[in-house]
Amino acid sequence: MIEWGASGVTLGIETSCDETAAAVVIGGGDIRSSVVASQVDVHATFGGVVPELASRAHLEVLTVVVQRALEEAGLTFQAPEVPAIDAVAATVGPGLVGSLLVGVSEAKALALAWGLPFVGVNHLEGHLFAALLDHRDLPWPLVVLLVSGGHTVLISMEGPGRYRQLGQTLDDAAGEAFDKVARFLGLGYPGGPAIEAAAASGDPRAFAFPRAMLDEGLDLSFSGLKTAVVHAVRRSPEASNADVAASFQQAVVDVLVAKALRGAEDVGAGGLCLAGGVAANEFLRASLSAACEELRLPVYVPSLAMCTDNAAMVAAAGWFQLRQRGPSPLDTGAQPNLRLPLLP
Ligand code: KG4
Ligand code: ZN
Repeated sequence: MIEWGASGVTLGIETSCDETAAAVVIGGGDIRSSVVASQVDVHATFGGVVPELASRAHLEVLTVVVQRALEEAGLTFQAPEVPAIDAVAATVGPGLVGSLLVGVSEAKALALAWGLPFVGVNHLEGHLFAALLDHRDLPWPLVVLLVSGGHTVLISMEGPGRYRQLGQTLDDAAGEAFDKVARFLGLGYPGGPAIEAAAASGDPRAFAFPRAMLDEGLDLSFSGLKTAVVHAVRRSPEASNADVAASFQQAVVDVLVAKALRGAEDVGAGGLCLAGGVAANEFLRASLSAACEELRLPVYVPSLAMCTDNAAMVAAAGWFQLRQRGPSPLDTGAQPNLRLPLLP
């Protein structure tokens, strides 16, 4: 847990993609409630997230999710009373614009009605905070491998709010590759957990899939790997999904671990940290941990709930941001292509 003095209570709201989430966090690190309503059932029949359906589902459930997060945190109140919180934070981007609009509108309206500051949070910064929520005394710089459905970036974090980008994917995000390959294999949505489950009984050496750019710098590329999987399956239609999934997962993890270790070495990092939905992958967690142990490099792996989208990370990042950069204006809009704020 990062300590940053005063212990304000923040309500966080997250609606950037296909999870509707609200959470109450004290002082940027003490999670009092974290409610996540998944839309998996809404999108499963389509094999992926349908943006229009995602926004509608957020609109239907968000207020109830907020109500439950307040109740679970013991913050019941009777209007016109105001709940005992100090700020309302919501993800403003990056993400699906229609989904973001729902959370941003609700958060700004609550902030106005309750006379509280509103904080617009960067979803990627939220993931970085989620990774750090469970830990104290972090060694800076910390190299963070942020691997989600929309992003794959390698960050050198010099402290909360101080980020340098070391590398990024030049095409697909790692999670996107998992989702596309799962869809191609008919394993369903969301793809990451489906591939991981199929891979458990497969042979990771069955197919020699490419490890793109393994020896070149810190950028990554996954679109060639996805194409290689498609070609291999067309060439060997008898191949088992388990073998294909295991070989694919091994190729992704080999590249991610190699790049993370090289990034850590380049900046003389005090430790390595995982963040984002793909960080929920047990094989990635175990592989990175083993590699770091061998090098005696401290490794920080967040709890599973803090890897995938949630609002505790938004509240934590929001509280930090409020103290460092102040509140966001009430005319803040959704910013679907928002980038992580980097050091000059
Ligand atoms: O961070 P996240 O919840 O949402 C975004 O911000 O994108 O990440 C979702 C991504 C999806 O692509 C999903 O397939 C992937 O994380 N994912 C996994 C696993 N669990 C979720 N990928 C690999 N293995 C998993 N166990
Ligand atoms: Zn995310």
